[in-house]
Amino acid sequence: MAKPTPQVNSSGVVSYYDKHADELAQRYDALSFEAIHAALMPYFPTPPATVLDVGSGSGRDAIHLAKKGFHVLAVEPSKRLLEIAQSKCGSNEVSWLSDRLPSLDSVRGDRKFDFILCSAVLMHLPSRNQILALKRLSELCANGAVLYLTFRSSGVKELSEMYEVDKTHLINKAASYGLRLKEVVETSDWCGRTSIAWWALIFVREN
Ligand SMILES: C[S@@+](CC[C@H](N)C(=O)[O-])C[C@H]1O[C@@H](n2cnc3c(N)ncnc32)[C@H](O)[C@@H]1O
Repeated sequence: MAKPTPQVNSSGVVSYYDKHADELAQRYDALSFEAIHAALMPYFPTPPATVLDVGSGSGRDAIHLAKKGFHVLAVEPSKRLLEIAQSKCGSNEVSWLSDRLPSLDSVRGDRKFDFILCSAVLMHLPSRNQILALKRLSELCANGAVLYLTFRSSGVKELSEMYEVDKTHLINKAASYGLRLKEVVETSDWCGRTSIAWWALIFVREN
């Protein structure tokens, strides 16, 4: 018998982000989109393509992309981070949703995006949910869409819901969901934590 799907996400992660939202938002906003996502630049679609930002945090990336002319849907489970992000831009610029991986139930099943950004989220999901999340994101990709995932090695844990992401397993699963790997990039931690490595995976969806 198939094992039951673990809880979508432990509320501990969201409580952590709610509790520290103001301080974390300041920290995230101090980084520039172009600097932290430099690897992505060659893969950008042309505005006004549709973008999904999952785990949008302070809204830094969603707002940046909306200002460039993309149609952006940002999804974030922390109520406080959503409030902070929404307070920084006009209501027409970005569509905001409260939801979470792996199921993203509030994102309609027939919606397709040209570009999906899921930056610094996956390591908060247990491994089985990482794969469920990958499958769900692959379903939301239009043909030819770019899926960009970043995650960190566990290193120092600020909270207990921090899991290793098995890159090889993820890449193999991605291939079975029609996602062709374009690039794997390792970067150091932007906050200067030497024990933490960051990875970015860039895929293109092929039907
Ligand atoms: C390290 S922050 C990254 C925020 C933003 N993406 C960035 O790059 O600055 C992790 C974000 O993932 C969100 N998050 C945690 N669990 C999530 C889940 N299951 N689904 C979607 N987002 C989640 C958190 O609330 C938080 O906003």
